[in-house]
Amino acid sequence: MNQPKSPLGMLFEPLRIGAMTIPGRIVKTATTETMSTVDGFVTEELVAFYEPYAEAGTPLIVTGNFYTQRSGKVYHRMPGADDDDKIAGMRRLTEMAHRHGAKICAQLSHAGRQVFQPAANDDPVSASAVSDKFSGIRPRAMSLEEIRAFVLGFAQAAERCQRAGFDAVQIHAAQGYLLSQFLTPYTNRRSDDYGGSFDKRLRILVDILKATRERVGNGFPILLKLNGDDALPLRKGLHTPALVDVARVLEDQSLDGIEISVGHYESGFPTIRGNFDLFFDTLLDQGVGREYPPGKQRSMRLSKGILAALSNRLWPHRQGFNLCYAEQFKRALKIPVISVGGFSDPQAMAQAIQAGQCDAVSIARAMIADPYLVRHVHQQQPVTECRFCSACLARIGTRAVDCFHPDVAPQRAIMMAREKGLGHARAA
Ligand SMILES: Cc1cc2nc3c(=O)[nH]c(=O)nc-3n(C[C@H](O)[C@H](O)[C@H](O)COP(=O)(O)O)c2cc1C
Repeated sequence: MNQPKSPLGMLFEPLRIGAMTIPGRIVKTATTETMSTVDGFVTEELVAFYEPYAEAGTPLIVTGNFYTQRSGKVYHRMPGADDDDKIAGMRRLTEMAHRHGAKICAQLSHAGRQVFQPAANDDPVSASAVSDKFSGIRPRAMSLEEIRAFVLGFAQAAERCQRAGFDAVQIHAAQGYLLSQFLTPYTNRRSDDYGGSFDKRLRILVDILKATRERVGNGFPILLKLNGDDALPLRKGLHTPALVDVARVLEDQSLDGIEISVGHYESGFPTIRGNFDLFFDTLLDQGVGREYPPGKQRSMRLSKGILAALSNRLWPHRQGFNLCYAEQFKRALKIPVISVGGFSDPQAMAQAIQAGQCDAVSIARAMIADPYLVRHVHQQQPVTECRFCSACLARIGTRAVDCFHPDVAPQRAIMMAREKGLGHARAA
């Protein structure tokens, strides 16, 4: 007699993304690492960061964002895929993943105006010269020549990733990064071939997908991270129907899979709903806030209590907070839809897939708290519980990504030591 299927069993059903099949429905989404050299080379520290995810049987690991050109750099210790000399380092990463049987996808990005450490990138560019209200950075508009060079550079970077052994690439067009800046009328005020109508704002993304496909061929999966909503009230942000149309066009142009997120930096914190009590102190004392101009630091220090209370009220945590968007993509598309945002509870993940809201879920913070999350879910063991404080994010650019919650981090350290010990015992 057949055993009744565990409701969590579906999290380990295979999923086909283009020519790639992944052995489950829980994806490690991109979390930038602050672990490369200042010149953008992969380090042993970065390879070691991903090893637990690979050991844990994570069906797909998406790396933190790699810049495709130096002008797209967000912070100093960000990795790059901008030159052939980066391939050897990237290969060490993919070889590690493959040694453990894991699949690994490189996220490729250009920050546009969303630069964390201005010293890392002193000439930020965008679709148009529209200041970022979050950082105060005013980019300059890219010339047509720069756009062409960027498209070519993106496709070349993707090809490098393929040569380095990655199983897929993900184009980052979400969260207010450069390609999102081109899509959004508020940040794209151009009147040439790359701005104005829907088709023209989308053109750069179509050009990139085509140029990338030409270089990597049909058998190499190309994914996209896209907003389900720009969350830019009172500005000309995009809402779900227009973003679904973007996805439809790209699906027709050979896109293999899509991950749905939300917001721009300027939106506040819809991208990382949670509890912000630790966030602003951490940003100012240990994060890039230390490099803010003195006036901005002072006003943030004075208002940090209010900012935290307001953020807690506006963007409280909930499981699967982008599912309301993802399900609309799921209804319109044939390619797999991955929903990021807020997941830590395996029941909620299974429920989202069972209800047909997405094909897979992806996880950032809860997998920083527990890099062995997939193994723990599979073996029905307790998961080290993320509190969604985003202290991990508050240190981007200054400290290697890690869990810094005062209660969770010690539990995590014990769990990691136990898992490492088990790993050694298994290997012996
Ligand atoms: C430390 C940290 C780094 C991140 N880096 C990236 C990144 O490199 N690229 C990206 O698309 N999103 C990045 N994000 C956003 C996440 O991928 C994800 O969309 C967001 O955190 C919501 O998912 P979660 O609730 O599972 O954390 C980052 C988030 C965190 C917390």
